[in-house]
Amino acid sequence: MMDVPSENGGLIVRGLTTTFDTSRGQAIAAADVDFDVAPGEVVGLVGESGSGKSVTLRSIMRLIREPGHVSGRVEWRGRDLVAMPAEELRKVRGGEIAMIFQEPMTALNPVLPIGMQIEENLVAHTTLNARERKARALELMNIVGIPAAERRLQEYPHQFSGGMRQRAMIAIALACSPKLLLADEPTTALDVTIQDQILKLLLDLRDRLSMSVVLVTHDLGVVAATCDRMAVMYAGRIVETGTVVDVFSKPRHPYTRGLLGSVPRSGASRSVLQSIEGTPPSLTNLPAGCAFHPRCKFATEHCLRERPPLEAVVASGERMVACFHHELVAAAEAII
Ligand SMILES: Nc1ncnc2c1ncn2[C@@H]1O[C@H](COP(=O)(O)OP(=O)(O)OP(=O)(O)O)[C@@H](O)[C@H]1O
Ligand SMILES: [Mg+2]
Repeated sequence: MMDVPSENGGLIVRGLTTTFDTSRGQAIAAADVDFDVAPGEVVGLVGESGSGKSVTLRSIMRLIREPGHVSGRVEWRGRDLVAMPAEELRKVRGGEIAMIFQEPMTALNPVLPIGMQIEENLVAHTTLNARERKARALELMNIVGIPAAERRLQEYPHQFSGGMRQRAMIAIALACSPKLLLADEPTTALDVTIQDQILKLLLDLRDRLSMSVVLVTHDLGVVAATCDRMAVMYAGRIVETGTVVDVFSKPRHPYTRGLLGSVPRSGASRSVLQSIEGTPPSLTNLPAGCAFHPRCKFATEHCLRERPPLEAVVASGERMVACFHHELVAAAEAII
């Protein structure tokens, strides 16, 4: 028996590992991922392209198909989603837990009008009658800023522009007032005004419904403005976690330091993640020791030999980092 983490009423992820069998061997897309999201908490998940953010969210939702394999525990309100029978999972998915996908076109059903897709969700997860469902669908369209809602509800995804599709997907995800929202780059295709509106809406739902959110984004301004805590992923592993204030003010992992780069500390402006010198590692052939060592200015022989575990660096346990040299990194002068 694995030890059962104590219940926090929210999401507890332990040892989540997702691999894909590929022609070049086994790719480890997510490795030993541990994190918690308390009720009403917004946790940002950042990392460069291919670091495993989407795979992590899909694994939580149990949306990984062959040739993918998922192991570990995903505990939601005391129940293990990884082991949950499919029928029970269907009740949770789309109702209590909703996901906003990075690629709206692959997530929306191409042969169903948008209104029907909202309707399906409401039928499955609420007791609203037909009139109430219609009203709710219109309300959602307005909330996400889709004009001419009445007509738009009859239209199919291909009749929507990219930004409108993303809004439609957000409307579908929020239809049943989920308790946990997994949001994968939810506002990337949207202009700044609507982006602010959507993020404000998410925070409002968090306040009103204690909705927990995992927010994947490349925009550090969004992290600063929206998230309570953040987790940084590199090559499928979480390498640093902490409150947004702590991580921004004193990154302890060299990779986080690189990502944050010259972000204005106020966090007020929109700044995307910096790109880091060197190339991301191959997931089928990860470097020995710390996967980041080939790109790391702090790397020593120790880092080539051994993989640093993700460990608490301060007594509270809120701040965790996987780096043998985190003290040095934290003390280093701010990089330009
Ligand atoms: N079905 C699959 N088969 C094989 N490899 C996969 C599959 N799905 C994802 N991967 C691999 O898993 C790794 C992580 O992908 P993921 O989509 O999680 O990255 P990401 O962090 O979301 O990146 P981005 O910021 O570009 O969205 C990638 O190398 C990807 O190629
Ligand atoms: Mg992704």
